[in-house]
Amino acid sequence: MSQHMDNIPSTPGKFKSDKYHYIHRFRSHSSLAKLILWSLFFFSVICFFFLLSPTSPTSPPADRSRRVLANYTWGGPEWEKKVRQSARVRSDHGHTVLVTGGAGFVGSHVSAALKRRGDGVIGLDNFNNYYDPELKRHRRDLLERAGVFVVEGDINDSELLRKLFDVVAFTHVMHLAAQAGVRYAMQNPKSYVNSNIAGLVNLLEVCKSADPQPAIVWASSSSVYGLNSKVPFSEKDRTDRPASLYAATKKAGEAIAHTYNHIYGLSITGLRFFTVYGPWGRPDMAYFFFTRDILTGKPITIFEGPDHGSVARDFTYIDDIVKGCLASLDTAKKSTGTGGKKKGAAQFRIFNLGNTSPVDVSKLVSILEKLLKVKAKRRVLPMPRNGDVQYTHANISLAQRELGYKPTTDLESGLKKFVRWYITYQSKSKKKSSW
Ligand SMILES: NC(=O)c1ccc[n+]([C@@H]2O[C@H](COP(=O)([O-])OP(=O)(O)OC[C@H]3O[C@@H](n4cnc5c(N)ncnc54)[C@H](O)[C@@H]3O)[C@@H](O)[C@H]2O)c1
Repeated sequence: MSQHMDNIPSTPGKFKSDKYHYIHRFRSHSSLAKLILWSLFFFSVICFFFLLSPTSPTSPPADRSRRVLANYTWGGPEWEKKVRQSARVRSDHGHTVLVTGGAGFVGSHVSAALKRRGDGVIGLDNFNNYYDPELKRHRRDLLERAGVFVVEGDINDSELLRKLFDVVAFTHVMHLAAQAGVRYAMQNPKSYVNSNIAGLVNLLEVCKSADPQPAIVWASSSSVYGLNSKVPFSEKDRTDRPASLYAATKKAGEAIAHTYNHIYGLSITGLRFFTVYGPWGRPDMAYFFFTRDILTGKPITIFEGPDHGSVARDFTYIDDIVKGCLASLDTAKKSTGTGGKKKGAAQFRIFNLGNTSPVDVSKLVSILEKLLKVKAKRRVLPMPRNGDVQYTHANISLAQRELGYKPTTDLESGLKKFVRWYITYQSKSKKKSSW
């Protein structure tokens, strides 16, 4: 029998060329083959009945409420218990918040801050590998120790989202899950459409049908100002000339959010973040990989605009962004709809959250050199046309007025905290110690 098995070719191509030889041998061993066939038939019948029979009392009961989608497992009594515990509010008038992108840079900081002040929080993240998922897992571990459960799943999974809304009556959704990064859109454009457009629509669909409907605060981006040259950027400025697919998906997100506000009465606040940096930050961002490359002696590339014009960013420290997010949640009015039907006009807001003091990228490098006590190997090149813009500068007067938003961390103080974290994180990672 083992000889027969060996003769069965492993690829369909090989099977065709050996067909005649195979049939001939089959006939010459017909009685043996019949025996094998009958044995196989009986074996299959036994297996079939075994699978249909109820689970034996000694084996653990099958958990029919667990679901698996795209390698994520969720559901079941233990899972629901964790969700409920994490969502429990521990302060008077606290919110119950679903934070999408909870294992991300901004999402992990916002989740921790909400939990610290007594709000109920559930994170949701698909732990994708756009950058090292290990960093996301370390953030998740820290959150878990603070009492925040980060569910592993995708915002495109309607069944999971509906389940979360069944288990918890969320008052707010802080939507931060997205495909971030400007340059990566040229490599993987579909990931932007999948998370920033399809995922957003899926989330809004579930939110609009939830009862009660939550208020939604979500991250747009300063990139929507695209090719505008009038600075500082104000919320009233045009946003119809994106320079990257990332920016285009954020702009589309703002239009989609407006539609759900208009038709279904969802309360929606869009936040246009300006280059957020700080501890537990994103390795794809310049301040992060400059630090890594300066320390390892690798040359770093600094881009310049036309006529040697400098490239500058309105770098905003993570704690200031977190304060802006929390203030947005606290001032968000309730959604007005129920069961997918609008009952009245709902709040719709858009705010810039920046620092209002742009800094040249070459100055950023000088600050890092000073903090790291290492000279960078600089290479200056003209800016490629890959989606980046030359200059960003936020006008934050609207957020100041309506949210009491007031950034307090300058770039040097913020980078000092980042560098301290970076060095500790690297040494702990090398030693594989716990977080
Ligand atoms: N960091 C910045 O400078 C900046 C600037 C402007 C806007 N933003 C926006 O702020 C938000 C948070 O950014 P960040 O810097 O924390 O980025 P991040 O990549 O660290 O966080 C986003 C998280 O969302 C998760 N995610 C992505 N697609 C998902 C999906 N389909 N389902 C579930 N989870 C998914 C990722 O795994 C990641 O952990 C994003 O919407 C981003 O576009 C960030």
